Amino acid sequence: MLLFGLLAVGSAYAAFAPDNAVADNSAQSQQIEEGKKLFAVGCASCHGLNAEGGNNGEGKMAGPSLIGVGAAAVDFQVGTGRMPAMQPNAQIPQKPPVYTPAEIEALAAYVASLAPGPAVPAQESYDVSKATDEQVTRGGELFRTNCTACHNFAGKGGALPNGRYAPALMGVSEQHIYEAMLTGPQQMPVFSDQVLQPEDKRDIIAYLKTLETQKDPGGFGLGRLGPVSEGLWGWLVGIGLLVCVAVWIGAKGVRAKGVDAE
Ligand code: HEC
Ligand code: HEC
Repeated sequence: MLLFGLLAVGSAYAAFAPDNAVADNSAQSQQIEEGKKLFAVGCASCHGLNAEGGNNGEGKMAGPSLIGVGAAAVDFQVGTGRMPAMQPNAQIPQKPPVYTPAEIEALAAYVASLAPGPAVPAQESYDVSKATDEQVTRGGELFRTNCTACHNFAGKGGALPNGRYAPALMGVSEQHIYEAMLTGPQQMPVFSDQVLQPEDKRDIIAYLKTLETQKDPGGFGLGRLGPVSEGLWGWLVGIGLLVCVAVWIGAKGVRAKGVDAE
């Protein structure tokens, strides 16, 4: 009986498991192969045929080596339409993505196959649909500590030296926010999991998503600086109005006096 059982299990395993593994493997290598082809056509002119980094010395945009940047960097760069880059600018802007999600996945799989790097984050790591108020508050604190220097208090973005800028963060998908922190595009630093733990990243995303849904009660954002900018407006507009009124009264007074004298 025992022998029969072992044999049955053994042959069943032999019949199914390796096949599955082979199937998995070949699906994966097919995807990598497809990514490699897409890469050769759309990316190699700048990044080199094997993603080793381009060096076309005509002052054109040579792309950096992509060895070890990971699937997350490709998903972010191609998913936000930054790549393929179009013309040489101080900064490569977002645009509607050129590739389909399946193609982006293939490109990412190819680049990830070259060397280990940050993977595309799993959906549950940036799912903030059930974020508590506490997490949002915590995310706000982390955002003010780590991000406002470039992206402004309200995530509205800001200018950087040499014609570069940190973009506004409203309307950016949860996944791309996570990947930006993980890969540090262009001038942005990398916030590795040692610097900002996965739950820190998630709370920051929760904060940004909450900010996105908030309306400005007064009609104007005023840079979302709170009492400071509101006070400034009060001063400028309020004092300005008082000055106008004073001038008007003064002018009337003079005319009234003039009439008296005649
Ligand atoms: C016209 C040239 C050009 C083309 C085409 C191009 N890139 Fe790039 N790419 C660049 C440059 C330049 C940078 C560096 C941007 C920077 O850091 O300012 C870059 C950066 C990147 C990065 C970020 C690397 C990092 O360190 O995080 C990734 C990923 C990337 N490219 C992927 C691609 C993929 C995939 C394609 C094809 C779909 C592509 N690129 C097509 C020029 C190009
Ligand atoms: C030193 C300045 C700097 C800091 C600090 C910084 N960023 Fe950035 N960030 C940038 C720049 C510059 C870009 C634009 C990169 C590009 O265009 O490729 C950017 C891009 C992004 C994007 C992509 C936006 C888009 O439209 O696709 C996100 C999301 C983002 N940052 C989030 C953050 C978060 C969250 C933090 C804090 C944890 C942070 N950044 C800290 C400079 C900074």
